[in-house]
Amino acid sequence: MMELKKIMCLISLTCMVEGQSFFDVIRNYRQTQSNNIPSNYKPERTTYDFIVVGSGSAGSAVANRLSENPKWKILLLEAGGMMNVLNDIPMLVSVFQLTEFNWGYKVEPQTNACLGMINRQCPWPRGKTLGGTSTLNYMIHTRGGKEDYENWAKMGNKGWSWNEVLPYFKKSERFDIPELNNSTWHNRQGHVCVEYVPYHSPLANVFLRAGERLGYPIVDYNGANQIGFSFIQVNMDKGARCSAAKAYLRDQRPNLHVMTNARVTKILFDENKRAYGVEYVRRKKFHQVRCSREVVLSAGTIDSAKLLMLSGIGPKEHLEELGIPVLKDSKVGYNLYEHVGFLGLSFLVNQSVTLLPRQLARPGVLLDYVMNRKGPMTIPGGAEALAFIRSKYAQDERPDIELLFASGSLHSDNGLTLRRALGITDELYNAVYKPIEGRDAWSIWPIVQNPRSVGRIKLKSKDPFQSPIIDPNFFSHPADLEIILEGVKLAINISQSEPFRKYGSRLHDIKIPGCRTLPFGTDDYWRCAIKHLPSMMNHEIGTAKMGPASDVDAVVDPQLRVHGVTGLRVADASIMPAIPTGHSNAVIYMIGEKAADMIKQTWRSR
Ligand SMILES: Cc1cc2nc3c(=O)[nH]c(=O)nc-3n(C[C@H](O)[C@H](O)[C@H](O)COP(=O)(O)OP(=O)(O)OC[C@H]3O[C@@H](n4cnc5c(N)ncnc54)[C@H](O)[C@@H]3O)c2cc1C
Ligand SMILES: *[C@@H]1O[C@H](CO)[C@@H](O)[C@H](O)[C@H]1NC(C)=O
Ligand SMILES: *[C@@H]1O[C@H](CO)[C@@H](O)[C@H](O)[C@H]1NC(C)=O
Ligand SMILES: *[C@@H]1O[C@H](CO)[C@@H](O)[C@H](O)[C@H]1NC(C)=O
Ligand SMILES: *[C@@H]1O[C@H](CO)[C@@H](O)[C@H](O)[C@H]1NC(C)=O
Repeated sequence: MMELKKIMCLISLTCMVEGQSFFDVIRNYRQTQSNNIPSNYKPERTTYDFIVVGSGSAGSAVANRLSENPKWKILLLEAGGMMNVLNDIPMLVSVFQLTEFNWGYKVEPQTNACLGMINRQCPWPRGKTLGGTSTLNYMIHTRGGKEDYENWAKMGNKGWSWNEVLPYFKKSERFDIPELNNSTWHNRQGHVCVEYVPYHSPLANVFLRAGERLGYPIVDYNGANQIGFSFIQVNMDKGARCSAAKAYLRDQRPNLHVMTNARVTKILFDENKRAYGVEYVRRKKFHQVRCSREVVLSAGTIDSAKLLMLSGIGPKEHLEELGIPVLKDSKVGYNLYEHVGFLGLSFLVNQSVTLLPRQLARPGVLLDYVMNRKGPMTIPGGAEALAFIRSKYAQDERPDIELLFASGSLHSDNGLTLRRALGITDELYNAVYKPIEGRDAWSIWPIVQNPRSVGRIKLKSKDPFQSPIIDPNFFSHPADLEIILEGVKLAINISQSEPFRKYGSRLHDIKIPGCRTLPFGTDDYWRCAIKHLPSMMNHEIGTAKMGPASDVDAVVDPQLRVHGVTGLRVADASIMPAIPTGHSNAVIYMIGEKAADMIKQTWRSR
């Protein structure tokens, strides 16, 4: 009964439990993830065959697959601790960004973007726990399209064409969507659960109908054709989050040792530039651990770049200015791409059909979740459906816009969580969103798919405990803004289609304070609004770019081995040479699966 009361409190977003506030309840919730994932291993041996750094989407997959060889001993090191069981509840998704399970990075103050965020800095959440960022994410599972990977292959990445990566997408997934159960595009035997959200709000259906009105098909965007509308396919196991840790680290084999709260500070190299282990800090003490075969770096786009540079692999002049001995001059930290969109399009409706605390806190809703894992609590923070569209700016066959539909808006949680997670200023929130708190509204986030603005990550110093400098340079290329603007217009058209008109859908039109001189709804107004309220999707990729030796910008080769040294691979989002259409997580599972296979190949006869 206490459990119910606590969860009820969380959902109604208002009350205190035993004197604790909402966030204290989340932080202090002791019960770890539901599936008893073993961890906190105390290493009894000092040498392993492989060391995997980071237990996120990629690292969990790599560690699991390598441990399939019973002769190998694998150590997985994770800087964060164990996640708690509340993380299972999809509706609470954004809350975890406000806890110590987030590394808490921010972008450098931007000139063209994040203008509505505190100090012009968009927060850049990254998971710091077993499971990594897959514990913070919205669980949307998208592979990207054929051309994304044909493009990777064209850049000289042998082995990464669509036909070569598709088997690994399939290998990773445990697909459970009855409507698509004959599809040859899917596999039901993998580790990563994929299903539809068990509950669809009335407006999610309306969004799909509106798409049909505009002439788009309803598609399986992970099948033959991406372009069209669809409910989101999500990484859930019957209504509960299926993180990388749950997918790959329950049922651990005895030859895999997982150590949490172990933060790697450096990769160790011998005089032949061979990685032979890592240095890490646990409970304030430095330790070293060795491996006889390879170190696999899976700390994510930000921290893998950081660790490479701390270990002497990076741009020569940058490392020298920080006093780090250069092992290999390399373009680490460049090629940073991120999907960015607009989060300020809200449509008010005249019926109680959106996700508001008063609706979620009804005992029936709660019981339905607790007893059946069904109902509105299974919706990941409001995200329900999406569309992939080609705008008039599209440069090839790929969609250049994603529209993400949510049956709620920035104000729907009364400013308690989402606004804080996004770092939105009080001035903006109070002017634009406070006045509609408690009112029903839905939203569409238009997101540019092949962004051309490119950023960079640098170190602030050689202190491994300092956050890096992350500058995405949002909207430094004007095309990105124009494509999002086109998405805004399309979203407005959708809101005016017959299926939405029944709900009296009306664009929320209080002007953003910094854009007040511009007439509402003009192109210039929207450009200004987009710069104030960009939606970061946290799909950052590319800082350890994959490419052949002939590519001067490449950090790893197509086997993911770091150029210029031996015994070290990178396997995570940082190796992507270009950003695929959609969301990044499924792609990263594919990379983890493929990396493990390539490693097994290398050591097959040895
Ligand atoms: C709010 C949010 C919503 C998102 N929504 C979606 C979505 O709906 N769909 C989707 O596809 N993608 C989504 N993403 C993105 C997706 O989750 C990430 O791209 C993906 O999880 C990254 O995987 P990774 O393996 O590259 O890195 P991570 O999962 O971040 O793993 C890196 C791991 O390494 C650990 N680590 C870092 N440094 C060290 C160190 N020095 N020593 C030891 N360990 C270290 C970290 O703690 C972490 O566990 C979202 C991301 C966020 C933040
Ligand atoms: C597919 O789903 C339908 C019901 O949706 C069911 O009757 C059928 O047996 C399923 N087929 C397979 C191969 O699972
Ligand atoms: C599954 O395949 C059968 C025949 O192969 C077909 O009749 C049926 O409609 C398909 N089911 C779905 C849900 O597509
Ligand atoms: C929106 O609808 C208008 C009127 O039908 C049309 O002219 C315009 O091209 C549409 N815009 C988009 C982006 O689809
Ligand atoms: C909502 O608005 C639409 C369009 O104006 C109208 O047809 C409908 O009756 C309204 N519904 C309610 C419950 O007010």
